[in-house]
Amino acid sequence: MSTGDRKPFVGGNWKMNTDSEGARALIGGVGGIGGGDAEVVVYPPFPYLREVAADISSQGSRVVLGAQDFRHEPNGAMTGCVSIDMLKDCSVSSVLTGHSERRHVIGETDSLINAKTKAALDAGMQVVLCIGELLEQREAGQTDAVNERQLRAGLEGVDEGSLDRVVIAYEPVWAIGTGKTATSADAQDAHAKIRSVLASMYSKEAAGKMRILYGGSVKPGNAEELFSMPDIDGGLIGGASLNAEDFGAIVSATRASIKRG
Ligand code: PGA
Repeated sequence: MSTGDRKPFVGGNWKMNTDSEGARALIGGVGGIGGGDAEVVVYPPFPYLREVAADISSQGSRVVLGAQDFRHEPNGAMTGCVSIDMLKDCSVSSVLTGHSERRHVIGETDSLINAKTKAALDAGMQVVLCIGELLEQREAGQTDAVNERQLRAGLEGVDEGSLDRVVIAYEPVWAIGTGKTATSADAQDAHAKIRSVLASMYSKEAAGKMRILYGGSVKPGNAEELFSMPDIDGGLIGGASLNAEDFGAIVSATRASIKRG
């Protein structure tokens, strides 16, 4: 499958970390990174979105601002929730859906994840749809079946015309924040199967253009090997995105995936 069209993508998911000062220091450190041969997006906690947006703009940075979550209804009686329009108002243009912590800690279902994915796409956002198996599912040989189910459910009703704003992140749950990483061969195998499911849902051409990221304990020391795999187009980074130097090194490692294009 041709890989030449896919611009590498690195997302930094700060999760429930940093404070105001720390968020500004972090964007100060990573602001110079984006805009080259890789697309770089950071996902700070909600309270710091405006500060990070202002710093991105004053630095003239090409790092893109993302948000970790949102509610799919436009407005109304939804205590504690944040709408897509509110995010747009804070200069957010990319969102995560289906992250394993929202699936398995907060309890989001496939149908809620699908509603969010569609609402964000309808609003013109980029969506990073996260999928991946639990350890027991992996041990039971269900990795590909879980990925296929989450992919089909997450993208139900999403038409091919919106796919240029969809990025898939394969994140085996047992590898997130644990220091354990899938081997590059296992990750490549899962990514190739994900791409073939996308080809069967849409078309081979559309699937060939989609970015599929790996996530789960990506560090400067393993990024290059992972990103050099033919179907791995970058990463969604948690822990290592909280250190500007490490995050920068991971973004630089996407050179390994550009080479093949
Ligand atoms: P990690 O998190 O890099 O800390 O494993 C990845 C993620 O949750 O996206």
